Amino acid sequence: MLALPLMIIGAGALGGSILKGLRVTTTVDPSDVIILDLHPQAEAQAYGELGARLNPEADVLAEARTVIVAVKPQGWRAVAEAFGDKLRADAVIVSVMAGVRTTDLSAAFGARKVARVMPTTGVATGKGVASLYAAESEALEAAKCIFEPIASTVVLGDEGLIDAATAVSGSGPAYVYAFAAALEAAGLEAGLEADDARVLARATLISAANLLDISGEEPEALIKKVASPGGTTEAGLKFLRAEGQGLNELITATVLAAQKRSRELG
Ligand SMILES: NC(=O)c1ccc[n+]([C@@H]2O[C@H](COP(=O)([O-])OP(=O)(O)OC[C@H]3O[C@@H](n4cnc5c(N)ncnc54)[C@H](OP(=O)(O)O)[C@@H]3O)[C@@H](O)[C@H]2O)c1
Repeated sequence: MLALPLMIIGAGALGGSILKGLRVTTTVDPSDVIILDLHPQAEAQAYGELGARLNPEADVLAEARTVIVAVKPQGWRAVAEAFGDKLRADAVIVSVMAGVRTTDLSAAFGARKVARVMPTTGVATGKGVASLYAAESEALEAAKCIFEPIASTVVLGDEGLIDAATAVSGSGPAYVYAFAAALEAAGLEAGLEADDARVLARATLISAANLLDISGEEPEALIKKVASPGGTTEAGLKFLRAEGQGLNELITATVLAAQKRSRELG
Protein backbone atom coordinates (compact mmCIF):
# COMPACT_ATOMS: atom_id res chain seq x y z
CA MET A 1 0.00 0.00 0.00
CA LEU A 2 1.24 3.47 -0.89
CA ALA A 3 2.22 5.54 2.15
CA LEU A 4 0.26 8.81 1.91
CA PRO A 5 0.27 11.72 1.49
CA LEU A 6 2.23 11.60 -1.74
CA MET A 7 4.31 14.68 -2.54
CA ILE A 8 5.73 15.49 -5.96
CA ILE A 9 8.55 17.99 -6.37
CA GLY A 10 8.55 19.23 -9.97
CA ALA A 11 5.34 19.00 -12.00
CA GLY A 12 6.79 19.67 -15.46
CA ALA A 13 6.64 17.41 -18.54
CA LEU A 14 7.15 14.15 -16.65
CA GLY A 15 5.89 15.18 -13.20
CA GLY A 16 2.72 16.57 -14.81
CA SER A 17 2.27 13.33 -16.78
CA ILE A 18 2.58 11.26 -13.59
CA LEU A 19 0.02 13.50 -11.87
CA LYS A 20 -2.35 13.21 -14.82
CA GLY A 21 -2.01 9.41 -14.86
CA LEU A 22 -2.69 9.20 -11.12
CA ARG A 23 -5.67 11.51 -11.56
CA VAL A 24 -7.31 9.76 -14.54
CA THR A 25 -6.81 6.32 -13.00
CA THR A 26 -8.00 7.65 -9.60
CA THR A 27 -4.96 5.99 -8.02
CA VAL A 28 -4.45 8.71 -5.40
CA ASP A 29 -7.16 10.92 -3.98
CA PRO A 30 -6.32 14.60 -4.62
CA SER A 31 -6.59 15.31 -0.88
CA ASP A 32 -3.59 12.98 -0.41
CA VAL A 33 -1.42 14.85 -2.92
CA ILE A 34 1.04 17.68 -2.24
CA ILE A 35 2.58 19.41 -5.27
CA LEU A 36 5.66 21.63 -5.24
CA ASP A 37 6.49 23.45 -8.46
CA LEU A 38 8.08 26.83 -9.18
CA HIS A 39 5.60 27.69 -11.95
CA PRO A 40 2.66 25.27 -11.78
CA GLN A 41 1.28 24.28 -15.18
CA ALA A 42 -2.14 22.93 -16.21
CA GLU A 43 -1.91 19.48 -14.58
CA ALA A 44 -0.69 20.81 -11.22
CA GLN A 45 -3.46 23.41 -11.31
CA ALA A 46 -6.07 20.77 -12.23
CA TYR A 47 -5.04 18.54 -9.30
CA GLY A 48 -4.97 21.65 -7.09
CA GLU A 49 -8.54 22.54 -8.05
CA LEU A 50 -9.61 19.01 -7.11
CA GLY A 51 -8.15 19.40 -3.61
CA ALA A 52 -4.42 18.68 -3.85
CA ARG A 53 -2.24 21.04 -1.83
CA LEU A 54 -0.26 23.12 -4.31
CA ASN A 55 2.87 24.88 -2.98
CA PRO A 56 1.62 24.79 0.63
CA GLU A 57 3.30 26.23 3.74
CA ALA A 58 6.61 24.58 4.67
CA ASP A 59 5.16 22.70 7.68
CA VAL A 60 2.94 20.62 5.33
CA LEU A 61 6.06 19.05 3.76
CA ALA A 62 6.64 17.11 6.98
CA GLU A 63 3.38 15.20 6.33
CA ALA A 64 4.58 13.58 3.10
CA ARG A 65 5.40 9.87 3.46
CA THR A 66 6.26 9.27 -0.20
CA VAL A 67 8.10 11.90 -2.25
CA ILE A 68 8.51 11.82 -6.03
CA VAL A 69 11.42 13.97 -7.20
CA ALA A 70 10.87 15.04 -10.83
CA VAL A 71 13.06 18.09 -11.40
CA LYS A 72 15.81 18.29 -14.03
CA PRO A 73 18.93 16.36 -12.97
CA GLN A 74 20.93 19.59 -12.64
CA GLY A 75 18.40 20.92 -10.08
CA TRP A 76 18.10 17.98 -7.68
CA ARG A 77 20.86 18.93 -5.23
CA ALA A 78 19.21 22.32 -4.65
CA VAL A 79 15.94 20.48 -4.00
CA ALA A 80 17.63 18.11 -1.53
CA GLU A 81 19.20 21.08 0.28
CA ALA A 82 15.94 23.05 0.35
CA PHE A 83 13.58 20.25 1.38
CA GLY A 84 15.69 17.33 2.74
CA ASP A 85 15.58 18.39 6.39
CA LYS A 86 11.89 19.33 6.22
CA LEU A 87 10.76 15.76 5.40
CA ARG A 88 9.82 13.04 7.88
CA ALA A 89 12.67 10.69 8.78
CA ASP A 90 10.74 7.73 7.28
CA ALA A 91 9.69 9.46 4.04
CA VAL A 92 10.54 7.35 0.98
CA ILE A 93 12.07 9.10 -2.04
CA VAL A 94 11.08 7.99 -5.57
CA SER A 95 13.31 9.64 -8.15
CA VAL A 96 12.42 9.73 -11.84
CA MET A 97 15.53 11.73 -12.75
CA ALA A 98 17.83 10.36 -15.41
CA GLY A 99 21.38 9.58 -14.37
CA VAL A 100 21.11 10.34 -10.63
CA ARG A 101 22.24 7.36 -8.54
CA THR A 102 20.29 6.07 -5.53
CA THR A 103 23.36 6.23 -3.26
CA ASP A 104 23.84 9.95 -4.07
CA LEU A 105 20.12 10.63 -3.52
CA SER A 106 20.06 8.74 -0.26
CA ALA A 107 23.11 10.64 1.02
CA ALA A 108 21.72 14.03 0.00
CA PHE A 109 18.25 13.29 1.41
CA GLY A 110 19.56 12.30 4.85
CA ALA A 111 19.89 8.52 4.38
CA ARG A 112 16.25 8.05 3.42
CA LYS A 113 15.16 5.02 1.40
CA VAL A 114 15.25 5.67 -2.34
CA ALA A 115 13.76 4.10 -5.47
CA ARG A 116 14.72 5.02 -9.01
CA VAL A 117 12.23 4.86 -11.85
CA MET A 118 12.64 5.49 -15.56
CA PRO A 119 9.13 6.17 -16.87
CA THR A 120 7.76 7.42 -20.19
CA THR A 121 5.34 10.35 -20.42
CA GLY A 122 2.77 7.78 -21.62
CA VAL A 123 1.95 7.40 -17.90
CA ALA A 124 -0.35 10.41 -18.45
CA THR A 125 -2.91 8.11 -20.10
CA GLY A 126 -2.30 5.23 -17.71
CA LYS A 127 -0.45 3.37 -20.49
CA GLY A 128 3.18 4.27 -19.90
CA VAL A 129 6.26 2.10 -19.52
CA ALA A 130 8.42 2.24 -16.40
CA SER A 131 11.57 0.49 -15.18
CA LEU A 132 11.93 0.34 -11.40
CA TYR A 133 14.97 -0.15 -9.20
CA ALA A 134 15.44 0.02 -5.43
CA ALA A 135 17.86 -1.64 -3.04
CA GLU A 136 15.27 -1.63 -0.22
CA SER A 137 11.91 -3.40 -0.45
CA GLU A 138 10.00 -0.49 1.13
CA ALA A 139 11.20 1.90 -1.57
CA LEU A 140 10.49 -0.62 -4.33
CA GLU A 141 6.97 -1.11 -2.97
CA ALA A 142 6.37 2.66 -3.08
CA ALA A 143 7.54 2.82 -6.71
CA LYS A 144 5.30 -0.14 -7.62
CA CYS A 145 2.25 1.42 -5.95
CA ILE A 146 2.73 4.63 -7.93
CA PHE A 147 3.62 3.20 -11.34
CA GLU A 148 1.84 -0.16 -11.68
CA PRO A 149 -1.59 1.53 -12.14
CA ILE A 150 -0.26 3.85 -14.86
CA ALA A 151 2.42 1.84 -16.70
CA SER A 152 3.71 -1.55 -17.78
CA THR A 153 6.51 -2.02 -15.29
CA VAL A 154 9.66 -4.07 -14.99
CA VAL A 155 11.76 -4.36 -11.82
CA LEU A 156 15.48 -4.21 -12.54
CA GLY A 157 17.82 -6.32 -10.39
CA ASP A 158 20.74 -3.95 -10.82
CA GLU A 159 20.79 -0.16 -10.92
CA GLY A 160 23.26 -0.25 -13.84
CA LEU A 161 20.51 -1.74 -16.02
CA ILE A 162 18.64 1.59 -15.92
CA ASP A 163 20.86 2.70 -18.83
CA ALA A 164 19.78 -0.32 -20.88
CA ALA A 165 16.12 0.23 -19.96
CA THR A 166 16.41 3.91 -20.90
CA ALA A 167 17.90 2.94 -24.27
CA VAL A 168 15.04 0.52 -24.98
CA SER A 169 11.86 2.05 -23.55
CA GLY A 170 12.87 5.65 -22.79
CA SER A 171 14.24 6.29 -26.27
CA GLY A 172 12.09 3.58 -27.88
CA PRO A 173 9.11 5.76 -28.85
CA ALA A 174 11.45 7.87 -31.01
CA TYR A 175 12.67 4.73 -32.82
CA VAL A 176 9.05 3.78 -33.54
CA TYR A 177 8.27 7.29 -34.84
CA ALA A 178 11.40 7.10 -37.02
CA PHE A 179 10.11 3.80 -38.44
CA ALA A 180 6.74 5.40 -39.22
CA ALA A 181 8.48 8.25 -41.04
CA ALA A 182 10.68 5.79 -42.98
CA LEU A 183 7.70 3.67 -44.02
CA GLU A 184 5.89 6.80 -45.21
CA ALA A 185 8.94 7.96 -47.21
CA ALA A 186 9.27 4.48 -48.74
CA GLY A 187 5.60 4.56 -49.73
CA LEU A 188 6.21 7.84 -51.57
CA GLU A 189 9.25 6.34 -53.30
CA ALA A 190 7.10 3.39 -54.36
CA GLY A 191 4.68 5.80 -56.10
CA LEU A 192 1.91 6.50 -53.56
CA GLU A 193 0.36 9.96 -53.20
CA ALA A 194 1.81 11.81 -50.19
CA ASP A 195 -1.43 11.76 -48.18
CA ASP A 196 -2.01 8.09 -48.90
CA ALA A 197 1.56 7.15 -47.90
CA ARG A 198 1.09 9.09 -44.65
CA VAL A 199 -2.21 7.41 -43.76
CA LEU A 200 -1.08 3.90 -44.74
CA ALA A 201 2.24 4.09 -42.84
CA ARG A 202 0.70 5.38 -39.60
CA ALA A 203 -2.41 3.20 -39.67
CA THR A 204 -0.32 0.09 -40.37
CA LEU A 205 1.93 0.78 -37.40
CA ILE A 206 -0.98 1.46 -35.06
CA SER A 207 -2.99 -1.54 -36.20
CA ALA A 208 0.04 -3.90 -35.96
CA ALA A 209 0.88 -2.59 -32.45
CA ASN A 210 -2.73 -3.09 -31.42
CA LEU A 211 -2.69 -6.70 -32.64
CA LEU A 212 0.59 -7.34 -30.81
CA ASP A 213 -1.08 -5.98 -27.69
CA ILE A 214 -4.41 -7.77 -27.81
CA SER A 215 -3.36 -11.11 -29.39
CA GLY A 216 -0.66 -11.80 -26.81
CA GLU A 217 1.28 -13.60 -29.57
CA GLU A 218 5.03 -13.42 -30.14
CA PRO A 219 6.19 -11.13 -32.99
CA GLU A 220 7.64 -14.12 -34.89
CA ALA A 221 4.25 -15.90 -34.76
CA LEU A 222 2.51 -12.80 -36.09
CA ILE A 223 5.11 -12.47 -38.87
CA LYS A 224 4.45 -16.09 -39.91
CA LYS A 225 0.75 -15.29 -40.23
CA VAL A 226 1.33 -12.49 -42.77
CA ALA A 227 4.41 -13.76 -44.64
CA SER A 228 3.42 -16.63 -46.89
CA PRO A 229 6.25 -18.50 -48.64
CA GLY A 230 7.22 -16.85 -51.94
CA GLY A 231 4.89 -13.88 -51.26
CA THR A 232 5.38 -10.13 -51.20
CA THR A 233 5.95 -9.82 -47.42
CA GLU A 234 8.64 -12.50 -47.53
CA ALA A 235 10.35 -10.60 -50.35
CA GLY A 236 10.36 -7.43 -48.23
CA LEU A 237 11.51 -9.22 -45.07
CA LYS A 238 14.50 -10.69 -46.90
CA PHE A 239 15.84 -7.15 -47.15
CA LEU A 240 14.67 -5.98 -43.75
CA ARG A 241 16.19 -8.94 -41.91
CA ALA A 242 19.22 -9.56 -44.13
CA GLU A 243 21.86 -11.60 -42.26
CA GLY A 244 24.50 -9.35 -40.69
CA GLN A 245 23.16 -6.05 -42.04
CA GLY A 246 19.44 -6.01 -41.36
CA LEU A 247 17.04 -4.54 -38.83
CA ASN A 248 18.28 -6.67 -35.89
CA GLU A 249 21.82 -5.35 -36.25
CA LEU A 250 20.59 -1.78 -36.80
CA ILE A 251 18.34 -1.80 -33.73
CA THR A 252 21.01 -3.44 -31.57
CA ALA A 253 23.54 -0.77 -32.62
CA THR A 254 20.89 1.92 -31.97
CA VAL A 255 20.14 0.68 -28.44
CA LEU A 256 23.83 0.24 -27.57
CA ALA A 257 24.54 3.83 -28.73
CA ALA A 258 21.71 5.15 -26.55
CA GLN A 259 22.86 3.02 -23.59
CA LYS A 260 26.42 4.41 -23.97
CA ARG A 261 25.10 7.96 -23.98
CA SER A 262 22.91 7.28 -20.95
CA ARG A 263 26.03 6.01 -19.08
CA GLU A 264 27.99 9.11 -20.13
CA LEU A 265 25.23 11.45 -18.91
CA GLY A 266 25.01 9.57 -15.59
N1 LIG B 1 10.31 14.32 -19.98
C1 LIG B 1 10.51 13.03 -20.11
O1 LIG B 1 10.03 12.40 -21.05
C2 LIG B 1 11.33 12.28 -19.08
C3 LIG B 1 11.45 10.88 -19.18
C4 LIG B 1 12.17 10.18 -18.21
C5 LIG B 1 12.78 10.88 -17.17
N2 LIG B 1 12.67 12.24 -17.10
C6 LIG B 1 13.30 12.94 -15.96
O2 LIG B 1 12.30 13.69 -15.31
C7 LIG B 1 12.88 14.84 -14.74
C8 LIG B 1 12.03 16.03 -15.10
O3 LIG B 1 12.07 16.19 -16.49
P1 LIG B 1 10.98 17.06 -17.23
O4 LIG B 1 11.15 16.85 -18.67
O5 LIG B 1 9.65 16.82 -16.59
O6 LIG B 1 11.50 18.54 -16.83
P2 LIG B 1 10.66 19.87 -16.71
O7 LIG B 1 9.53 19.87 -17.68
O8 LIG B 1 11.63 21.01 -16.72
O9 LIG B 1 9.99 19.76 -15.25
C9 LIG B 1 10.69 20.03 -14.07
C10 LIG B 1 9.77 20.86 -13.22
O10 LIG B 1 10.36 21.03 -11.94
C11 LIG B 1 10.20 22.38 -11.56
N3 LIG B 1 11.23 22.71 -10.59
C12 LIG B 1 12.53 22.97 -10.79
N4 LIG B 1 13.16 23.21 -9.63
C13 LIG B 1 12.20 23.12 -8.66
C14 LIG B 1 12.21 23.30 -7.25
N5 LIG B 1 13.32 23.62 -6.60
N6 LIG B 1 11.05 23.13 -6.59
C15 LIG B 1 9.92 22.81 -7.23
N7 LIG B 1 9.85 22.64 -8.57
C16 LIG B 1 10.98 22.80 -9.26
C17 LIG B 1 10.35 23.13 -12.86
O11 LIG B 1 9.84 24.43 -12.74
P3 LIG B 1 10.41 25.58 -13.77
O12 LIG B 1 10.11 25.12 -15.14
O13 LIG B 1 9.68 26.81 -13.38
O14 LIG B 1 11.90 25.63 -13.50
C18 LIG B 1 9.52 22.26 -13.80
O15 LIG B 1 8.15 22.54 -13.74
C19 LIG B 1 14.30 14.95 -15.27
O16 LIG B 1 15.21 14.67 -14.22
C20 LIG B 1 14.38 13.92 -16.36
O17 LIG B 1 15.64 13.28 -16.39
C21 LIG B 1 11.95 12.97 -18.02
